Amino acid sequence: MNAQRSGSRPLLAGNWKMNPARASEAAELARGVIGAARAASATVDVALLPPFPWLLGVAELLHETGVGLGAQDCFWEPAGAYTGEVSAVMLSGWCQWVLTGHSERRQIFGESDEWVSKKTKAAIGVGLNVILCVGELDDQFEAGRTDEVVSGQLQAALEYMSPGDSGRLVIAYEPIWAIGTGKNADPEHAYKTMRAIRRVLDESLGDEASSRVRILYGGSANSGNVGSYVELPLCDGCLVGGASLKAHEFARMIEVVAEVYGGPTTEEATTS
Ligand code: PGA
Repeated sequence: MNAQRSGSRPLLAGNWKMNPARASEAAELARGVIGAARAASATVDVALLPPFPWLLGVAELLHETGVGLGAQDCFWEPAGAYTGEVSAVMLSGWCQWVLTGHSERRQIFGESDEWVSKKTKAAIGVGLNVILCVGELDDQFEAGRTDEVVSGQLQAALEYMSPGDSGRLVIAYEPIWAIGTGKNADPEHAYKTMRAIRRVLDESLGDEASSRVRILYGGSANSGNVGSYVELPLCDGCLVGGASLKAHEFARMIEVVAEVYGGPTTEEATTS
């Protein structure tokens, strides 16, 4: 791996999924991360993605901390008769971030590439930063089809995207077999897939716009392995599920990323 790191600021985003069950627990979790995130803020971008009902409470806690807030999904229409949905424009008053195309949305809730594309375009259109997720199934991985699957998902998602949108776009490569399994992807595999992702971005958006798009790894990332991803030349951070539900563990991940990028650790930052 001889390429240099992309030069972008690293991003660590905590996808809480449908957790925790109580507002007080959500507040405690957010509070537990703020210190480490502030200490590393010169080097690392941090975002928390709680479930919809906890967004407003967490927004208050994060106010003026520099820690970003995001939702886990959105709908493309601004308002209307769409029972159960939350629009991108509704989120834009509270959030800086939104996830689109998470594999749980695709697999459990049947979201198509076309939906992912419309959500991504709508969210960027109202000023949100989007973390767009792509990734292959276990059998596709075993069959050596990762690049083909991930490239196809990405090409479809970029259909309505213009190069000017690229500064608000982040791609998370999340192999589905690695999500929540404790079986994180080999960094070499992640690197090869990120190369394929970068190729599609270059072709679809042009080199300059592509260079503004950060690429994350996701799938059983934790404080023990996050360093091996953010050291990869093409990897700009991680999308974190399970490990983001433990404040101490997520805080440690922030410190590790700051260390890899040569920024101050919590200790140095708090004593300086
Ligand atoms: P995990 O989830 O870190 O628990 O594997 C990652 C994700 O689904 O974004």
